[in-house]
Amino acid sequence: MITFSTIPAERRPARERERLLADPVFGQVFTDHMVTVKWSSGWHDARLEPYGPLALEPSAQVFHYGQEIFEGMKAFRRADGSIVTFRPRANAERLNRSAARMAMPELPVDVFMQAVDLLVGADRDWVPHGEGRSLYLRPFMIATQPSLGLHGPSNAYLFVLIASPVGSYFGGKPVSVWVSTEHCRAAPGGTGAAKCGGNYAGTILVQQQAREHGCDQVVWLDPVERRWIEEMGTSNMFFVYGSKLVTPRLTGTLLAGVTRDSLLTLAADLGHPAAEEGVSVEQWRKDAESGALTETFSCGTSSMITPVDRAVGVDGEFRIPAPGPVTVRLREELQGIQAGTRPDRHGWMHEI
Ligand code: COI
Repeated sequence: MITFSTIPAERRPARERERLLADPVFGQVFTDHMVTVKWSSGWHDARLEPYGPLALEPSAQVFHYGQEIFEGMKAFRRADGSIVTFRPRANAERLNRSAARMAMPELPVDVFMQAVDLLVGADRDWVPHGEGRSLYLRPFMIATQPSLGLHGPSNAYLFVLIASPVGSYFGGKPVSVWVSTEHCRAAPGGTGAAKCGGNYAGTILVQQQAREHGCDQVVWLDPVERRWIEEMGTSNMFFVYGSKLVTPRLTGTLLAGVTRDSLLTLAADLGHPAAEEGVSVEQWRKDAESGALTETFSCGTSSMITPVDRAVGVDGEFRIPAPGPVTVRLREELQGIQAGTRPDRHGWMHEI
């Protein structure tokens, strides 16, 4: 445990807050407070303070060498007014796996949990009402040592937690995907399994290419053979064969999504066999065309469960019916657990 000091923010008036919460665009509006915790030989100076700019040296290592990691998680407002977060411990643990890969200090899980409870508690009025809405939480850690030499890890870090009221990420509609055979997201031995900013920076160009091909998102293939499906945009993928689910196995180049893991557990609860195995792009196409594959969807914290209805590649396109019944059933189950209308059998929800 660590003691947080509080510097209260000047809260925005209720009328302004209600206006901003009326139709939240993903990641554009931020709550009144943020949490910061510093590291130099140990964690110290933990604060809940007004949301605002950070003062950093232009020579801070994060700006030059990208030593940065982050998480994405959500808090929900239930019909009875209570506020809950979804699997916060899983995000704390993944942040620390990313920290280990990026030679950054681990943040004790209890400090992470304290930070989340403190920020969501202070800004609880910013958790929106309504289905598909939530308070998106963005914990991140950056290297702050002023140094252009890269002789080792930074000797100073800053952990920050900010919060943003959000609605649907993809507008609630099925998405179309461009299968990129030119670029890949991560390589064996690289940082693909860590949630670090650099993994995402490299996707922006390819996302633009997907748009140029008339698609919403990009599908990433493995970096060696360029045939095994890895992820979609910034999410994991699931393929449905009747009642059976298949998701690409975690080879070290994929992110171990918390939603992915939750869906594997829910699939078992609901009686859907689920396998983690390789899915090739040729097989996906062949099975979609024959009708053996019945649904495809992506999953992630921000985008939840999003059906895919069209895939475009260098040699043409194919369609997939969407949204299918398994996609809908899993989405209802997950959203029901978060909303408190379905039983939380696995103790995933944490009340603030
Ligand atoms: C998330 O789904 O939480 C992510 O981190 C993806 C990000 C691009 C919004």
